[in-house]
Amino acid sequence: MSVEGATITRVQLGGTRGGPAVRTLRRDRWWVQPSISAFVLSAFVVYTTWAVFVNKDYYVGASHHRDLISPFFSPCVTRSCVAGAHGTFLVINWWHVTPALLILGGPLAFRLTCYYYRRAYYRSFWQSPPACGVADAHGRYSGETRFPLILQNLHRYFFFIGLGFNVILTIDAVVAFRLPGEGGIGVSLGTLVLVVNAVLLWAYSMSCHAARHLCGGHVNAFSTHPIRHRLWKLLTPLNARHMQLAWASLIFVALTDLYVRLVASGVFSDPKIF
Ligand code: FES
Repeated sequence: MSVEGATITRVQLGGTRGGPAVRTLRRDRWWVQPSISAFVLSAFVVYTTWAVFVNKDYYVGASHHRDLISPFFSPCVTRSCVAGAHGTFLVINWWHVTPALLILGGPLAFRLTCYYYRRAYYRSFWQSPPACGVADAHGRYSGETRFPLILQNLHRYFFFIGLGFNVILTIDAVVAFRLPGEGGIGVSLGTLVLVVNAVLLWAYSMSCHAARHLCGGHVNAFSTHPIRHRLWKLLTPLNARHMQLAWASLIFVALTDLYVRLVASGVFSDPKIF
């Protein structure tokens, strides 16, 4: 069937790879999204690396009448953690470099293997392909069938590690209601920052495809699994916003570290709200 006046572009499936002279017929600004992804991800990596290795100003304690810890350094489980930042439940004596290195592997594995981030960094950094209808920059493609990319399949297990960190950061947010020396319990701007951070991390985790699969996967009839159906209906709208939640939680976790850092280093005081 032909439509009068329509332009027909022939599409060759499985066409030439490796960036031919004409990479795409697209005329829109397809490069904007991968460029923004590359910029934000690079900025996050640079900031996080700096914050991890500078290894100070990650905790605001009783001397400031607060109990705020950066999410990059929680749980602080080494003897070298600043006073007040670590609990007594688990203290590692033999680790002498920055304690954040012991922690970040878990959340990093969860984020790196996330289906959305995979799309973002495959497109922005590896250009494989950079966008729909744009030629792949590489001559060959083996997908995620071989090492190391086959490890991306571990995402469903890293999901549980991510949940563990969400629990810890939620406890940190609750502890942030402590205002030692200022009436004991209250709310400061720092409290709200840690609470929003925890909420965004939970929202990101609950919008994960693995979470939705846990509720609705391998179910032939929802009528016989009413609770799983209810959970699945609860998570599905979140899942539809996974991309937005991925960016919001990533950026906010860095902002939370920055906030704690600025208060701890004395750039400004954490204002008490009530
Ligand atoms: S798919 Fe993104 S966190 Fe699971």
